[in-house]
Amino acid sequence: MSTEYILSEATAARFAREVAKYPSDQKQSAVMACLAIVQQEQGHVSRASEDAIATYLGMPAIAVYEVTTFYNMYNQRPLGQFKLNVCTNLPCQLRDGQQALEHLCKKLGVDEGGTTADGMFTVQKSECLGACADAPVMLVNDRQMCSFMSHQRLDELVEVLKANAAKN
Ligand code: FES
Repeated sequence: MSTEYILSEATAARFAREVAKYPSDQKQSAVMACLAIVQQEQGHVSRASEDAIATYLGMPAIAVYEVTTFYNMYNQRPLGQFKLNVCTNLPCQLRDGQQALEHLCKKLGVDEGGTTADGMFTVQKSECLGACADAPVMLVNDRQMCSFMSHQRLDELVEVLKANAAKN
């Protein structure tokens, strides 16, 4: 199912800069940085690109898959313009984390993990974001933490993101 991935010279040069930060016999230490570069360039990390990184770093492909599947921030498939990750771990569950996820899914008309038809939003549950006291919490595009996300605040966030998208 995996499409082909061609490692461009420009991307290889970026990989090389990351690899140079480590001793020559520890190239694989750059795996997370290389995955982040691919995701920045492609929007997600395909299986083919993981294989290319494994070859580049001289490590088993399975070791790259283990990294990609362990961390929520790596997208293993194309996602919407805004990736909305709602924490549903236990402390957040006890303070309406699941309800926040369900509200967002209902508002955007998607199932958990789904992307809106216009490609704007992907809604996913996530593991603990380290802000349990602020539940319900969520993360936008792996960077913007949003706390105390009542249904009203979720609705407002969606509108703000839509408005931002319209400006760009
Ligand atoms: Fe949700 Fe920790 S359990 S942030």
